[in-house]
Amino acid sequence: MCGIIGYAGSIRAAPILTQGLTNMEYRGYDSAGVGIHDGRQISIKKDTGKIDEIKERLGIDSLNGNIGIAHTRWATHGKVSQVNAHPHTSCESKVTVVHNGIIDNYQKLRINLETAGHLFISDTDSEVIAHLIEDNFKSSGDYRSSIIAACEVLEGSFAFVVIFKDNADTIFGVRKDAPLILGIGKNENFIASDILAFIKKTDEVIFLENFELVEVSKDSYQIMSLSGEQKIRESVKVAWEASDISRKDFSHFTLKEIHEQQNTIRQSLNQNTNILNDFCDILGNSNKIYIVASGTSLHAGFIAKQLLARVVKIPSEVVIASEFISYADLIDSDSVILAISQSGETADVLDAIRTAKGRRGKIISIVNTPGSSLTRESDQVLFLNCGPEIGVAATKSFTSQLAIIYQLVLILSGRTQDIAELTNISNLVPELLSKEEEVSKICDTFASNTDFYFVGRGLNFTIALEGALKLKELAYVHAEGLAAGELKHGTLALIEEGTPVIVLNPDDETYYETLNNASEMKARGAKIIGISNKPNPIYDYHLQIPTVDRIFYPILEVIILQFLAYYGAISRHHNPDYPRNLAKSVTVK
Ligand code: AGP
Ligand code: GLU
Repeated sequence: MCGIIGYAGSIRAAPILTQGLTNMEYRGYDSAGVGIHDGRQISIKKDTGKIDEIKERLGIDSLNGNIGIAHTRWATHGKVSQVNAHPHTSCESKVTVVHNGIIDNYQKLRINLETAGHLFISDTDSEVIAHLIEDNFKSSGDYRSSIIAACEVLEGSFAFVVIFKDNADTIFGVRKDAPLILGIGKNENFIASDILAFIKKTDEVIFLENFELVEVSKDSYQIMSLSGEQKIRESVKVAWEASDISRKDFSHFTLKEIHEQQNTIRQSLNQNTNILNDFCDILGNSNKIYIVASGTSLHAGFIAKQLLARVVKIPSEVVIASEFISYADLIDSDSVILAISQSGETADVLDAIRTAKGRRGKIISIVNTPGSSLTRESDQVLFLNCGPEIGVAATKSFTSQLAIIYQLVLILSGRTQDIAELTNISNLVPELLSKEEEVSKICDTFASNTDFYFVGRGLNFTIALEGALKLKELAYVHAEGLAAGELKHGTLALIEEGTPVIVLNPDDETYYETLNNASEMKARGAKIIGISNKPNPIYDYHLQIPTVDRIFYPILEVIILQFLAYYGAISRHHNPDYPRNLAKSVTVK
């Protein structure tokens, strides 16, 4: 989940590395550090906190040396502390490493290394990598083979970057089940978890494959397999631009990304017709469709399932990616796995599609990040085209996922005449954005409430789930999304005087029944916040949305709920871009 970066160039590494960390901070932000080689020795500076503060406090940018590595952490093993922050060094300070992932067998390896005399100072799993490499280096005296030998005994997921005290020119990177990308510049090269780390310097990249080792100096690089065989790989140009990672005039990335949705929805609908048709052929010809995703992308999956059933009349199953193994026995060569993921690096999703692939299932995916593992491991891919999403909360990527799902469903059901209305949805976004102040006032009113309920029926139920997830994630309050009809089966007992309930109630076939449920809650003291194109006196607060074809309401409703979560965080003085305990790209299982 963390971000790692290595730099080998002809100018000072430290400012480039800290900038790279800032650009990747959304991947993990509990602590950070750098290791810079000044030609004689490696200086390590690391601490807990935000990168900007650490950088100032430790004077990182003034360190000398043109080679270095850096890390922004999301702790998995060992509490958040200075000593557990990366980089980690071996006993004799010969090897310095930054690691992303989890070493499953670190306890056993640590015991063995300690028995052999190695002294550990952190509680992390990652530290074993440095000691192992040092141990191997002592006997082989060879950089590459000491890394390869370490990889042979490491179990789990890892991408790591290493520098050696005795080698002031080279950085080494290796990956297994965690992303690592080589960035090729002029007189400088990079290795990082994410293109965003170096996009301001170069857009020419090579996406490393599992079990590949890359050796990088300022003017050359070499990729090889872990069996030592050299690999010749073509570089590609990435379409993302440095300007995509600026906050512009917005106070947070999350707010900027909510505001971008008029454009991003439009961009997502701009797809290659052949790929769209290919997707439709694959989906339309299968009776065994499994939709696999996590978090917000899972909610897009639920919408896909409902629309496939209602509009296209084909069955599908949604499987939570981390639960996929329970369904694995059902997968065969007739199965289609539709994976949905913004990052394309979610470990649970990758694990699920690899399991399905092993059973000859066909993998098609809807992804945002070009070059991500999911795109490379899929048989066919549709890209969201919504640009990098930096805010940890998924916002614009969700509406882009929905836009693509709508497009597929309309083609599959022969409702191509409705594509014009779908395209017009993006023009309605400003009307929703104009509700920002109204939503922020509602959030101020409920700033001291700790329980929120989101209810709706049909497609609106899924949006209730998404609204609750977003509020929990950003405002740190208890929130539940419920099928409105389920309230009376239990949850109604929790409604008391003043409980805020967000009712998703557009004028569709669910309207009157949901209104009755809202009325039942109001009778028990709830404050009803109605999101609907149709006003009603039952609502204590009414947030008006435009009238559209009934299948399109989710994409409108969710924009209001994104504001609700954002201002829910602001009214509680939380930073919406960096919700506690979370990270954007969930590369561990
Ligand atoms: C959404 O706000 C979350 N941060 C999270 O649930 C996210 O959607 C989930 O981790 C899946 O990520 P992905 O789309 O990159 O696979
Ligand atoms: N497992 C390592 C740690 O806890 C790396 C975590 C990460 O990927 O950020 O330090």
